[in-house]
Amino acid sequence: MTILVTGGAGFIGSNFIFFMLENHPEDRIVCLDKLTYAGNLSTLKDVMDDPNFRFVKLDICDREGVYKLFEEEKPDVVVNFAAESHVDRSIENPEVFLQTNILGTQVLMDACRKYGIQRFHQVGTDEVYGDLPLDRPDLFFTETTPIHASSPYSASKASADLLVLAYHRTFGLPVTISRCSNNYGPYQFPEKLIPLMIANALNDKPLPVYGKGENVRDWLYVEDHCKAIDRILREGRDGEVYNIGGHNEMRNIDIVKLICKTLGKPESLITYVTDRKGHDMRYAIDPAKIHSELGWLPETKFADGIRKTIQWYLDHKTWWEEIISGDYQNYYQRMYGNR
Ligand code: NAD
Ligand code: TYD
Repeated sequence: MTILVTGGAGFIGSNFIFFMLENHPEDRIVCLDKLTYAGNLSTLKDVMDDPNFRFVKLDICDREGVYKLFEEEKPDVVVNFAAESHVDRSIENPEVFLQTNILGTQVLMDACRKYGIQRFHQVGTDEVYGDLPLDRPDLFFTETTPIHASSPYSASKASADLLVLAYHRTFGLPVTISRCSNNYGPYQFPEKLIPLMIANALNDKPLPVYGKGENVRDWLYVEDHCKAIDRILREGRDGEVYNIGGHNEMRNIDIVKLICKTLGKPESLITYVTDRKGHDMRYAIDPAKIHSELGWLPETKFADGIRKTIQWYLDHKTWWEEIISGDYQNYYQRMYGNR
């Protein structure tokens, strides 16, 4: 099979490419990525010379370019990771989120219709369901929970999901959607909670916790997410949505304290800052469907995953130091300067 992976120079897409090249040497991977601030070609350096791999710098909104690539590569499967992915940036400037996340997804699906495809897989998020209250630990997101997005980011991802399902119903496009909880692991851009706290702690900088730090996320090790997508591509049913989650709910403050402890840094670095606008309280996935239909379960325990992740950031300082020394400084100043 030829699998077109969009957004493969980002966090989850790159981990997916490594997983697929290692576990499916019979498949060819073509990676398309615009290389926005979040895409990093150095992440893919170890696979650049792999004969089963090709990288193409391209915007998923570039219809002509996308059609040309489909003509050249005739992909059997498309996995769409390409997106603007950070909630705080979507609050600052929603427009590019609508362009890439909605219209870009449309361009990819139009290409799939035009050239034919076995499967279009949309990598979605649990954030499309909105949030759950902290005082109802009995509630979880299932695939039938109503869409109720809170941020421009999650609204754009929800719109894309609706469009994907509409292309299935109207045009018969063979699609699947996965909606995953928060991922962590190697190569995550240091604007997200866990790598930001690791990088700041290592630099003895304040650790900015939004609000009271009581918000809960359901953390999943990125490799488990990649395995779930692989399973859906091979055994998932067309037109279906699959929730992916770790049954691993944690409060932000507890994660930040754990990072301090692991790195031997004082908790006095923790600084409570103004809360995010519209901040979702709790995400919690019920992954019963993917477990019962496809036999998928998360394999990595949080204690092991976070240890491996922290060690990875210690071992790959040049990767993230290069990122935070560039335009990231302006972002950080805008986002945290007067908070
Ligand atoms: P990321 O920001 O690390 O990577 C996104 C990648 O997409 C980057 O390489 C970027 O260059 C590329 N990209 C952006 N706009 C593009 C465009 N117009 N054309 C081509 N490429 C473009 O994001 P991530 O954390 O790896 O997330 C990947 C996908 O998974 C996203 O769709 C996101 O919504 C979804 N998701 C993420 C999480 C999470 O915890 N990170 C959880 C659930 C779902
Ligand atoms: P994030 O990694 O941005 O993921 P998401 O918003 O998609 O869940 O944030 C995870 C949680 O951490 C979220 O509740 C916001 C919080 N957070 C902070 O408290 N401080 C920070 O500097 C960041 C980036 C996030």
